[in-house]
Amino acid sequence: MTLLALETSCDETAVALYDRAGLVGHRIQSQAARHARFGGVVPELASRDHARDLLPLIEQLFRGTGKRLRDLTAVAATAGPGLPGALHVAHALGQSVAFARGIPFFGIHHLEAHIFSADLGSRRLDPPFVALVVSGGHTELVAVRALGRYQLLGATRDDAAGEAFDKAALLLGLPYPGGAALSRLAREGHRERFELPRPMLDQSGCEMSFSGLKTALLYMLRTLPKPTAADRADLALAFETSVVEVLVEKSFRTLTETGYSKLVVCGGVSANERLREALCARAEASAVRVVFPSPEFCTDNAAMIAHVAWLRLEAGERPADSVPVRPRWPLESLTPPGTRA
Ligand code: KG4
Ligand code: ZN
Repeated sequence: MTLLALETSCDETAVALYDRAGLVGHRIQSQAARHARFGGVVPELASRDHARDLLPLIEQLFRGTGKRLRDLTAVAATAGPGLPGALHVAHALGQSVAFARGIPFFGIHHLEAHIFSADLGSRRLDPPFVALVVSGGHTELVAVRALGRYQLLGATRDDAAGEAFDKAALLLGLPYPGGAALSRLAREGHRERFELPRPMLDQSGCEMSFSGLKTALLYMLRTLPKPTAADRADLALAFETSVVEVLVEKSFRTLTETGYSKLVVCGGVSANERLREALCARAEASAVRVVFPSPEFCTDNAAMIAHVAWLRLEAGERPADSVPVRPRWPLESLTPPGTRA
């Protein structure tokens, strides 16, 4: 049993091989530098680069692992959500390989893969738990009752947390995608100087909003005629502190609402150290366990696609007659392995 997994939903071209022993190997080729000068992902460029890079990356993976095309027994690719043109690249290539080899093809939900990415390695996540999915495209609080059984309890009404980090980073003169760079800059900041709002914190429930925070940062920047490096570091810290405080508070509200005692944090922003520290500190004060993916698997990768495909296969998933690409695909519409919606 050897599974090939492909991921091209946004600006990372990624491939992975998985077998009974777990992850055999994986490769990620990021297009971030390509999109940097536009300040965000340009969908047309993303699909073109995926089409150019995917096959050579698979060849590299085969060379590195000693596996061959004829070893494959299944293929999986991200079917959504994501950029339509970009998604089609992995989906079309994956389906072609599966068809040519006469093996099954599985379309995987990108966010379900992020949720179970904390499980890569020896750990078993064992639902139920609350998942905080924080990436460049999504910020959602989800009750995970089982693999394939999800209830959305809160989400951002506008920008995702990662998107807000990236926009704030651009305002502070950092290149796209600037989440990690903003976080590094914040380490040099002084906390007392600037205070930004905590959007929707005073409203009950688990809904969030991050677009106003970026505007508040812009207005604060405008009050400084010539922002110095120290000003920018202080502002970065104020911004990061606000986002982290909102994410921590809303996550713990969701835990209270569900009565669950485990929180799984995933997606690109889950690599943020201040967020990790704040969640762990809050968890220590309550009886909550917080689980993060290893930093290698926080941002987009195909190892998580392979892993969740494998979990589904193990639990009795059968290949569907047709697997459409779904640029918009609510997590809640998924069903457990072996059942159909
Ligand atoms: O999960 P991901 O790779 O892609 C999506 O599915 O969206 O997440 C990428 C996002 C970007 O917005 C990036 O700036 C953010 O994750 N990010 C971070 C950090 N590392 C990545 N944000 C804050 N702090 C970080 N350390
Ligand atoms: Zn992602």
